[in-house]
Amino acid sequence: MNRDQTFFDRYSLVLGGLGAVTLALIVLAMKMSDLSQDVYTRNLDEYQAEVQSRIQPFGEVYLPGEEQEQMDAPTVETVAEPEPVATVQSGPQVYNGACNVCHGNGVAGAPVVGDADAWAARIAQGSDTLYDNAINGYAGAAGYMPAKGGNMSLSDEEVIAAVDFMVEESR
Ligand code: HEC
Repeated sequence: MNRDQTFFDRYSLVLGGLGAVTLALIVLAMKMSDLSQDVYTRNLDEYQAEVQSRIQPFGEVYLPGEEQEQMDAPTVETVAEPEPVATVQSGPQVYNGACNVCHGNGVAGAPVVGDADAWAARIAQGSDTLYDNAINGYAGAAGYMPAKGGNMSLSDEEVIAAVDFMVEESR
């Protein structure tokens, strides 16, 4: 076989291969352009709306008086507030913390807890009067009883528990 013939055979083989690759690339390019063409053949408004919804800001600020426009705007879920852990003090606890300072030994005319004579007439007034005087405070013949013993962080219930305890100890 002469050398020209060999060269020609190999050359056409390479050319053929390149042609096949070119054809494959053209077909691939057409497929891909079909896919991307999709975007432009669709309704432009619809397309823009979709883009808008994808790039919209995460939240919106509503000033007082402004209404929320879109119903599908992100809404803040209101999680139920956890109940504050009840740290209600018992009667004796409240008494020791807020009342004993006067009622323990009669400071400023306070009736001493455990002194049945000093308490008999007071107990006879009825619990409601005692609660009311302890919660709101009052100035009596013996002296001045400050509201909640001066500890306004006490709840009414805690003061009532303390009064019950004092009365119980003073019968
Ligand atoms: C600063 C002193 C003081 C503290 C603290 C105090 N008291 Fe008194 N309390 C008095 C005095 C004084 C009286 C008597 C007032 C009077 O009848 O003239 C009184 C009277 C009372 C009475 C009798 C009310 C009545 O109608 O006769 C109750 C009940 C009472 N205190 C409950 C409490 C409780 C409960 C606390 C604690 C939370 C407390 N007090 C803390 C001074 C105090």
